[in-house]
Amino acid sequence: MSAVPANLRTEGDGLRTSIVGNWAKEKYRLLAIYYEMFSTGMKDKWDQRVYIDLYAGGGIARIDGTGTHLKGSPLIALTVRNRFDKYVLCEEDEDLMAALKVRVKRVAPAADVSYISGNCDERVEEISNAVPRGSSDRRVLSLCLVDPFDFGIKFSTIRRLSRLFIDFVVLLAVGMDANRNYDHYVEGNSPKIDDALGNSEWRDRWRASGIKRRNFRQFLAEEFATSMASLDYIATPLNQMKLVKSGEKNLPLYYLALFSRHQTAHKFWDDVLKYGTDQRQLDFDS
Ligand SMILES: C[S@@+](CC[C@H](N)C(=O)[O-])C[C@H]1O[C@@H](n2cnc3c(N)ncnc32)[C@H](O)[C@@H]1O
Repeated sequence: MSAVPANLRTEGDGLRTSIVGNWAKEKYRLLAIYYEMFSTGMKDKWDQRVYIDLYAGGGIARIDGTGTHLKGSPLIALTVRNRFDKYVLCEEDEDLMAALKVRVKRVAPAADVSYISGNCDERVEEISNAVPRGSSDRRVLSLCLVDPFDFGIKFSTIRRLSRLFIDFVVLLAVGMDANRNYDHYVEGNSPKIDDALGNSEWRDRWRASGIKRRNFRQFLAEEFATSMASLDYIATPLNQMKLVKSGEKNLPLYYLALFSRHQTAHKFWDDVLKYGTDQRQLDFDS
């Protein structure tokens, strides 16, 4: 069982709180490492660093069946040592958004935060407009977390935001969702994977590949990386993605992957992958 990072623990506060599986600790731990590296490492290289969370949640999550509360992704990003200059947080659940606003005010009252209530795909123009425009003497770099419950990403949203100077950390929930719904997605006419990958030709490639059905998730993750490469992102191979498994049954749940146009970000990510398997290097308790 993986450790609960001490710096990620928080208290319950009676506000709306999502319940997450034990595996979420791993996600938060890896995000926390990357956010620290990115926010500090990019501080002197860029004039403004912006953090965007498309699926922000309520800011605190409780691990199912326990009293352990953990900071969610927006609160992790707000409590790095070198805070981002600007935050853009989108969440469609009104109660979670209300809880998020209270929690953000509590942990970082002075932070510059734009809240976008609603569906990130429908509100993508507002999200983009909330990011300060860069210029030759004011360079702006954004880091965007894409963390939906399932493989419900819309590639069109990523394509739209990719017009900015922007890196993406994407949670590719291709483990359970894609395997459970294989017949529906592949044999049926569901547009879900077409939307997530931004094309429908993946079906022909899948049929021609001869890859076994149990390896569908690897195929989807690689297809997503190919779609990102079409937007001039550095091609991210499967072995540079972190596969997170469920604690109890050890089932593959999702890949956590970085997409950047800059080698510096990939160097940071290499360290995340290294630390992700060597907890001794981090000041975490159990
Ligand atoms: C897996 S949770 C992510 C939570 C957060 N990133 C964290 O790690 O603490 C997904 C969140 O996205 C919200 N959500 C689902 N679909 C959305 C959409 N299309 N646009 C914005 N938020 C959405 C859900 O209400 C939920 O709070």
